[in-house]
Amino acid sequence: MLERSDILDARERVRDTSRRTPLEYSHTYSSMTGADVHLKLETFQRTGSFKIRGATNRIATLSEEQKAAGVVTASAGNHAQGVALAATRAGVDAKIVMPEYAPIAKVKATRSYGAEVVLSGTDYNEAAERAHEIEREEGRTYVHAFDDEMVMAGQGTLGLEILEDCPEVETVVVPIGGGGLISGVATAIKEQRPDVRVIGVQADGASSAAKSLEKGQRITLDGVDTIADGIATRSVGEHTFDHIEEYVDEVVTVSDPEIAVTITYLLERSKTVVEGAGAVPLAALLFETFDYDEDETIVPLLSGGNIDLNTLTNVVVRGLVETGRYLKIRTVLTDEPGALEKLLEIFTEHRANIYAIHHDRTSRDVEMNDTEVEIELEMRGPDHVDAFLEALREAGYEVDVLV
Ligand SMILES: Cc1ncc(COP(=O)(O)O)c(C=O)c1O
Repeated sequence: MLERSDILDARERVRDTSRRTPLEYSHTYSSMTGADVHLKLETFQRTGSFKIRGATNRIATLSEEQKAAGVVTASAGNHAQGVALAATRAGVDAKIVMPEYAPIAKVKATRSYGAEVVLSGTDYNEAAERAHEIEREEGRTYVHAFDDEMVMAGQGTLGLEILEDCPEVETVVVPIGGGGLISGVATAIKEQRPDVRVIGVQADGASSAAKSLEKGQRITLDGVDTIADGIATRSVGEHTFDHIEEYVDEVVTVSDPEIAVTITYLLERSKTVVEGAGAVPLAALLFETFDYDEDETIVPLLSGGNIDLNTLTNVVVRGLVETGRYLKIRTVLTDEPGALEKLLEIFTEHRANIYAIHHDRTSRDVEMNDTEVEIELEMRGPDHVDAFLEALREAGYEVDVLV
C-alpha cells in the first residue's frame, strides 16, 4: 500500500513540472448548498488536468537505463497529454498510442507536448494492446494511467495541497475513473487527518467502484455510457481498489443531466471551463447525493478542464434545457393566413424569445390543410416554461415539448 511518505517524496519530484493550483472559497455554491464550499481548481493545471502529477512522479522514479529506453502508454485523453509533457520535461522519449478515432485536438495537443503519437485500434483497449506490443518490442516502460503506486503518489500531492490550503476541511469530494486520483488523495488525507471524510464520485453510467464496493470485490462493467469521458472506465484497478476499500468513506454516483447542469453553472457563475469528469464532485454536492451538515467545510476537487468544443456545445444546450432556459416545442396550426401571427402573440405576451422557427406545410405528420410548426425558444427558467405552456394549451394549442 501507498504511504504518506511516498506522496511527500512525489511532491519534491513534481514541484518543477506541475503547478500548485488555487483553492478558492465559493460564495455561489456555499449559498446554494448551505455548506462552506471551497473549490480545488485543478482545471488550471498544466495540460489541463492533474495527470501531469502522476506521470512526472512515475517517470522521475525510472532508472537511468529505463529513462534511456523511453516510455509508452495508451490513452485517448488527459493521461496522454500528462505523460507527453512529463516525459519531455524529463528528457525522456515518449510514444503515446491513441485510438484512430481520437479527436484531432487531443492528438495535436499530445504532439505539441513533444510525444510521438501512434494512431492504432478502434478503441482504448486496442490502443492499449498496441502500446503493450511497443513496450515489448522496444523495451520501453509502460506508464499506467492509474494502477501504479508512483502514479497514485503523484496524484496524491493534490491531497497535501488541500490540507495545507484549507486546514478546516471536513469533506473532500473526488472523481473516480480507474481510481488513481482518489487513491493518492485519500492516502494523503487519511494518513494525516483521519477525521476528514473522503467521498468518491462516479457517473451513473460508469459506476464500477460503487458496484465493486457493494459486492466486496472488483467487478468489470460490460460497458460504460456517460458524457464524462475522463471517468468512463469499465473497472477500477487492482491496487486502486485496495486503497478505495481502505480509505474512501463513501462512493456515490451522478447522472449525465446533473453533470451537464453543473458544467453550465461552472461556466456561467464561476467563469470556469470544467470537463464532465472534473464536474462530478460538485454535481454530487449540488444534487445532494451524499449527506452533509449545514456549514460543513467541503472541497470538491475539479480535476480537469479538457472538454471538446462539440461536447461543450451539447452540454450547454442540455444544461439550459434542464434549468428551463431552452425549450423546443411542436404544434399544429390550421393553414390559413394569420394563424402563425396569432400563435406568436402568446409568445410576445410571455416574453418567450425565439431562436429558430420551422414552419412546414408539407409535413406528412399533419392533415392536408394543417401546418406543423417547430420552435426553439430562450426561456427564463422552469416557472416561465410552465406558465408559457399553460397559456398555449389554454388557447387551444396542442403542444409537444421536444426538449
Ligand atoms: C479530468 C479527470 N478527472 C478524473 C479522472 C479519474 O482519474 P482516475 O482514473 O485516476 O480515477 C480522470 C481520468 O482520466 C480525468 O481525466
